[in-house]
Amino acid sequence: MLISVIGAGYVGLVTGACLAHLGNEVRVVDIDRARIERLRGGEVPIHEPGLDELVAAGLANGRLSFHADQSGTYGSQLVIVAVGTLDRAGEWYGELVERAVRGLAEDSRAPRHLVVRSTLMPGTAVRLEALAQAIDPDVRLCFNPEFTREAVAVRDFLEPDRVVVGAGRDAQALVQELHELYAPMGRTILDTDLTSAETIKLASNVFLATKISFANELARLCAATGADVHAVVDGMGLDLRIGRSFLSPGPGFGGSCFPSQVRALPELARSFGIEAPIIAAVDQSNLGQADWLIDGLERARGASLAGSRVALLGLTFKANTDDLRESPALRLAERLVARGARVVAYDPKATEAGVVQLAAGGVTVDAAPSAAEAVIDADAVVVGTEWAEFGALDWAALAPRMRGRIIADARRIIDRDAALAAGLTVVAMGVTHTPDGGGAAARIAVPVTAAAAV
Ligand SMILES: NC(=O)c1ccc[n+]([C@@H]2O[C@H](COP(=O)([O-])OP(=O)(O)OC[C@H]3O[C@@H](n4cnc5c(N)ncnc54)[C@H](O)[C@@H]3O)[C@@H](O)[C@H]2O)c1
Repeated sequence: MLISVIGAGYVGLVTGACLAHLGNEVRVVDIDRARIERLRGGEVPIHEPGLDELVAAGLANGRLSFHADQSGTYGSQLVIVAVGTLDRAGEWYGELVERAVRGLAEDSRAPRHLVVRSTLMPGTAVRLEALAQAIDPDVRLCFNPEFTREAVAVRDFLEPDRVVVGAGRDAQALVQELHELYAPMGRTILDTDLTSAETIKLASNVFLATKISFANELARLCAATGADVHAVVDGMGLDLRIGRSFLSPGPGFGGSCFPSQVRALPELARSFGIEAPIIAAVDQSNLGQADWLIDGLERARGASLAGSRVALLGLTFKANTDDLRESPALRLAERLVARGARVVAYDPKATEAGVVQLAAGGVTVDAAPSAAEAVIDADAVVVGTEWAEFGALDWAALAPRMRGRIIADARRIIDRDAALAAGLTVVAMGVTHTPDGGGAAARIAVPVTAAAAV
């Protein structure tokens, strides 16, 4: 099938490259000319495992091409809209999608079959469809949400858990085309209406964000009672009704999707006069996690971090991406600086270009060229992102370079035994492991009320 994709960002590029890989001819359009030039030269502007190879193969076999204006879509059977939906403050807004849909509807040479893949607030697609059909009644619109996760987006795209197709008015032919497009994946395709499809996408993300926050709050509780939160979530996760994924406590969620969506959904509910108190609490819970982590580090250290030097390992919002948007590691940097610490950060992707100063949440931190250099003279080490290389750090070699003896591992990625053997104390989400084998998790759990009754 000859198709076009509008937007060469994380989603548009992965969508285009994967659909070309599946045998389609795909034209990817972006208004960012410089980005298009780089892509034409085979340079992929984002880090996404497997994407470079797919783009190179698509360029080589001629099935993938990049275009700087809408004429690139002419002749395509359908066009997929995958433009961004965040404003400068990181909040959801639909202006770019609306502009893209309007631009396509107004251009009679562009495809009449429009598929929106950008994340939409429920109710938006119906409005976009009405807008497009008021310009040209022949336009048909479907909403086909994107469920891929950055860092494993290529695999997620090619092996999705499900494909959801929300059909607009009289869009049966377009729905059929989407079924053909996704048939090679051999996965369940759920057909529904526009607003339900929008809600499936948003509710899935917000549910996962809520699950993460639940685990984070459990970590706080366990740290107080003396339970080992990691054993607790493992035990819970064995229950098939609950499941283990997205139940690991950590520094909080981030990225371009979850934070804006947990804020937007309660707002949408409020616009209908409905309160959504559980969802409305998730953002605050998430934002509080950085301070809780740093409180734990200061407690385990027995001193405030004011005036100290902290090595922050990892800045991206998760491993295997270069995406810093709403990264919890940046929140950690910001909170550390707010407490008077000097932060020296290292990230395999975010600092690899030799960047020495990095704006993080309005603050500036120093950047080191390697983890080994970041930890020099550090009073404490904080692990903010689960990059695999942090799991292989040689603490026997690094510990003597440090001034302090403590690591806060918010991702539970480091080789704890090696760190303990090197004489370091490791705080892992409220559980403190000391070289002598003691720690918070070994405390006897006595609820406050029971203790008071004794
Ligand atoms: N990043 C993810 O992992 C992810 C996952 C699922 C869903 N989504 C959703 O997918 C959408 C896209 O996200 P993203 O991260 O790829 O965004 P992005 O900001 O990385 O990329 C968007 C691209 O669209 C281009 N663009 C904007 N307006 C355009 C226009 N009129 N014509 C052509 N190009 C235009 C921009 O120049 C940019 O390159 C968002 O709605 C997002 O919520 C993202």
